[in-house]
Amino acid sequence: MIPRHAPWEESGEFRIGLRQIPAEAWLEGGEADPAARKDPLLTAHPAAVWAETEGSRPAQAELLDLVSQACGRPIPAEGRPPLLAAARAVADDLCLMERRDGGWRLTALSLCAGSFFTASEVIGRSLAELHGPVTGFRERLLARVTRIFDGLRDDLVLERRNWSVVSAPDLFMPDPAPMRAVITDIDPARAADSLFARVERQTLRRLPATGGVVFTIRVWVDPLSAIAADADRLARFAAAWRTAHPDFRAYKKLELYDDLVARVIDAA
Ligand code: HEM
Repeated sequence: MIPRHAPWEESGEFRIGLRQIPAEAWLEGGEADPAARKDPLLTAHPAAVWAETEGSRPAQAELLDLVSQACGRPIPAEGRPPLLAAARAVADDLCLMERRDGGWRLTALSLCAGSFFTASEVIGRSLAELHGPVTGFRERLLARVTRIFDGLRDDLVLERRNWSVVSAPDLFMPDPAPMRAVITDIDPARAADSLFARVERQTLRRLPATGGVVFTIRVWVDPLSAIAADADRLARFAAAWRTAHPDFRAYKKLELYDDLVARVIDAA
């Protein structure tokens, strides 16, 4: 399978990287029954995958309407919080941002493919607090991101993507520690099938009536063998790996994979 997204071909550093996409391209779809994946996680790990704050239900309801429109059918809430009902109908994780106490805060989310964080850890946080661990975010990106949220036009849908390398294909990955603890057990000869490019495709969209912003996160995972299958594709990945910014590498702990990735790159 050719990876659907290859953001390493564009950047190996922290950046905003938003581009406008057509409204029809908002949610990528393609998962037959997202609820079948999400419901068991909600039962087993409720605090990791779901959280809401008081007062967020009106914007949640608007979000549910928007997702229903995008899916082309009404999605019944059936007694569930509206954002949760919406999230069960789509592959994406859904985050609701609202202006509160002078800043944009996360007021509700369904997060079944979180990359190393949980709903209970992030609920209620501001953009600055959410990005505390991201080197330079406050200094370089926060003001611009806040302006983008403030000025988001009703008809705009924006997309950005990020990437990392991981050693497990699981979408649900609240804590990377168990995965990282066994990297040294990986057979270098099998590196291309044991390592994965993990891409988050994110979108931003205004909720015109309540003034909230929907932030969606869809995770795509491909084995490095899918990249290595084509020499030019692998060359572009190799270039990204070699030139990724030191802060970006440190944040994503890419050094843990250097020897294994070298096996994939050098085998070409
Ligand atoms: C345009 C808006 C945004 C930009 C430009 C942005 C940018 C970033 C960047 C550069 C990172 C580092 C990882 C990476 O992407 O390579 C990151 C991580 C993260 N972002 Fe955002 N972000 C945005 C919106 C949001 C929103 C709305 C949320 C709310 C859920 C969020 C939650 C997070 C979290 C939880 C992390 C992981 C932080 C950690 O390591 O603990 N981001 N973001």
